[in-house]
Amino acid sequence: MTLNSIGLDTKKTKDLADELNQLLANFQLYYQNLRGIHWNIKGRMFFDLHEKFEELYTDANLKVDEIAERILTLGATPLHTFEDYTKAARVPVGKNISKDEKAVELIVNSLSELLKIERSILEASDEANDEGTNSMMSDFITQQEKTVWMMKAWLGETV
Ligand SMILES: [Fe+2]
Repeated sequence: MTLNSIGLDTKKTKDLADELNQLLANFQLYYQNLRGIHWNIKGRMFFDLHEKFEELYTDANLKVDEIAERILTLGATPLHTFEDYTKAARVPVGKNISKDEKAVELIVNSLSELLKIERSILEASDEANDEGTNSMMSDFITQQEKTVWMMKAWLGETV
């Protein structure tokens, strides 16, 4: 086993960076979904939701940057083209969504996919002793689970 300059197994770190790139790509799609519903939402809930979606995309934007910089910290290159993002797509693409329920469902379905990728990275980073990535995933998961609960509550459903 060879260690890199931050003391992590070189091979495992490369695999982790690849998984983080999958997360980055899907986060960018989630971000774009949020921009789409922020712009296109219609109806009586407009003012509430337009603002809520902005709050969510602002948070997603910060997380995108954190993921990319973690990838660089691990010695790899973050994916940065739309072409690469769409190739890695697991998050559903929301197009022409203007109805409030459909918009909130898109958020829940996007977050469900992100959570799957994050849990896989959580496990792999634990196995690689990569505390930095592990704690980042742990924070993301906790926050996103809470957002899913709130969105589900808005839909009148339970998690
Ligand atoms: Fe705006």
